[in-house]
Amino acid sequence: MEVLIQPNAEHAAMMAAWLIARQLRAQPDSVLGLATGRTMEGVYHRLVGLHRDHGLDFSRCRTFNLDEYIGLPPDDPRSYRQYMNHHLFNRVNIDLRNTHLPDGTAADLKAACREYEASIRRCGGIDLQLLGIGVSGHIGFNEPLSALRSRTRDKSLTPATRRQNAAMFGGNPENVPPRALTMGVGTILEARALLVVVTGAEKADILAQAVEGPITSMVSASAIQLHEDCKVIADETAASRLQGGAYYRWIFENEPDWNEARRALNTDDPGNAKTSAHRRAGGPHDH
Ligand code: F6R
Repeated sequence: MEVLIQPNAEHAAMMAAWLIARQLRAQPDSVLGLATGRTMEGVYHRLVGLHRDHGLDFSRCRTFNLDEYIGLPPDDPRSYRQYMNHHLFNRVNIDLRNTHLPDGTAADLKAACREYEASIRRCGGIDLQLLGIGVSGHIGFNEPLSALRSRTRDKSLTPATRRQNAAMFGGNPENVPPRALTMGVGTILEARALLVVVTGAEKADILAQAVEGPITSMVSASAIQLHEDCKVIADETAASRLQGGAYYRWIFENEPDWNEARRALNTDDPGNAKTSAHRRAGGPHDH
């Protein structure tokens, strides 16, 4: 595992987008595993910018999202399908037929989950899986006690997750659907590479447990320690409880492998950081 600590959430999003873009440029027909949530909005905003300003091509890539609420049809504005269309798919040159989310309205949910796994396999497996971490320690919607070998299935959401996601449902956790379909921890671990993005002080404890704590199904995100190609991008506030922070920073600043990324993102040039903060003032709706 590599932990890349970035000065703030904006730089964390830039770094994640740069790594996804590098994957897409090296392999234009990549299969990307995608996540939703607030953290990813910044990442998708950056990817849209790379498409618009630098021609990043999505025309051949295929995508599989981690999860979808049970009972929300794809045209419901609160569904993850609509989130993805709004934040990414409708703003880049992706073929919507190549984008997949679990079908939370299927009459037979178990069959839909089996079919989802089969369709990932038919595409040759996921090359790069993007992940956030929830306050309950989940990846996807793998709440505590999800088996480390679990596959795509339906899952009941914890009260903490329903509180975390209440904003899209009028602020009331009771309105958040109680169940969702999610790729399993085992499904996620089969991706060829994992890219985890975590920002904000409220994630500092859970990030420390996931990265440095014991591997336990009580913290599904701790399963990322089992993956041989896992990068974790955290901003300073989320990284504040990591015991190895100084070591992780030293690696990022000194490893030749990261020269290209450091140059591309220019994170050590405060002038540039200021410029990008100015650009951000336009916000996600400036295009
Ligand atoms: C959603 C998903 C979740 C989120 C996590 C963090 O598709 O996979 O695991 O990544 O709940 O969400 P935010 O970024 O909203 O804190």
